[in-house]
Amino acid sequence: MGARDVNEIGVGMLGYAFMGKAHSNGFRKLEYMTWPPPLRPRLVAIAGRNEAAVSEAATRYGFERWTTDWHDLVSDPAIGLLDNLGPNALHAEPTIAAAEAGKHVVCEKPLGRNADESYEIWRRVAATGVKHLCAFNYRFVPAVRLARELIDAGELGEIRHFRGRYLQDWGDSDADVWRFDRGAAGSGALGDLAAHVVDLARYLVGDIDEVGGFVQTFIPNREVDDAVESTVVFANGAVGTLEATRLALGRRNAFQWEINGTNGSLAFDMERLNELQVFRSGDERTRGFTTVLVSEASHPFWEHWWPPGHIVGWGDTFVHELHHFLAAIADDTDVAPHGATFEDGYRAAEVCDAILRSSESGRREKITYKGL
Ligand SMILES: NC(=O)c1ccc[n+]([C@@H]2O[C@H](COP(=O)([O-])OP(=O)(O)OC[C@H]3O[C@@H](n4cnc5c(N)ncnc54)[C@H](O)[C@@H]3O)[C@@H](O)[C@H]2O)c1
Repeated sequence: MGARDVNEIGVGMLGYAFMGKAHSNGFRKLEYMTWPPPLRPRLVAIAGRNEAAVSEAATRYGFERWTTDWHDLVSDPAIGLLDNLGPNALHAEPTIAAAEAGKHVVCEKPLGRNADESYEIWRRVAATGVKHLCAFNYRFVPAVRLARELIDAGELGEIRHFRGRYLQDWGDSDADVWRFDRGAAGSGALGDLAAHVVDLARYLVGDIDEVGGFVQTFIPNREVDDAVESTVVFANGAVGTLEATRLALGRRNAFQWEINGTNGSLAFDMERLNELQVFRSGDERTRGFTTVLVSEASHPFWEHWWPPGHIVGWGDTFVHELHHFLAAIADDTDVAPHGATFEDGYRAAEVCDAILRSSESGRREKITYKGL
């Protein structure tokens, strides 16, 4: 298909700050890097509360219009996709309204502030029949997709262990940010960072049946947790540990995980995003982890990029994620299993809620997932 034949899709975006920048960059870049794109994203309108800031964001990112009322995005017939990048408390209402107006929806993680809210978003949006994606972008790191392909091909044998931790260090602050406000965020390091670890664990190993855990708040008068520690049991019998904190000084954005199976192991560190550590059983004289530079033409997502060794970055995960979503719309294919759907967003929230319950009860907690 020639690029001229590609249909357009109008994008409405809610939020123009951190994720607004990351997703705008993703839409702009995918249009020329993934040639021809599945659909041409037309950046129609962006919403925020502050008139001066949102109008500047519209100019900067290339949106045709801006508004201080997100309802305008829902009623705009030129918009076919709502990308919700607001604080967690603003995920449910605009996302559901947009889907009920027939627009495909992307919503940042965590899907809702707890499992009940996440379930409601999933239930109401699924009933409309539009495509939905919960933006767990770390599924779209080339090394992570390669890990999934190796696991699916049986290269690790039976999985026994998952060990994941997401460490940042900006939380020792008294700044007035919504992430410290229980009403706006729902939880602290749990929904912000541990939710990513839970989603990755589910993507690579499978569903989680049971958790033990606790959360800790170190900063006086803070409404939400600063740190999370948890042990998990997967439905397939594997066991694991999850950790997340915003108080690990020196760890800027360290999302690290390791998986051990009966035939081998994989390990990854977000701060070394293009590398996957691979260990395979075999000749004991040459045993050891090998560093695979995930940048060969045959590696996931690499058809869009550069010659081998010319690496990609964190922002490019959004190019892959939004490309995947536009392809699902254009071809009417499933967002799952590689994209996280709203069901995945809901399931991650059930695991996070169970960690909170365990923290309160001091007992291990079983998880029951609701269906539609
Ligand atoms: N996938 C990831 O790696 C990742 C990383 C960071 C944040 N997130 C998620 O993305 C979401 C946004 O986080 P962020 O870091 O971009 O936050 P942010 O504070 O940088 O931006 C929030 C945006 O929402 C806008 N906003 C707030 N209230 C509004 C309202 N009532 N109407 C319209 N706009 C409103 C703000 O003006 C701002 O533009 C959160 O759910 C967060 O958990 C995901």
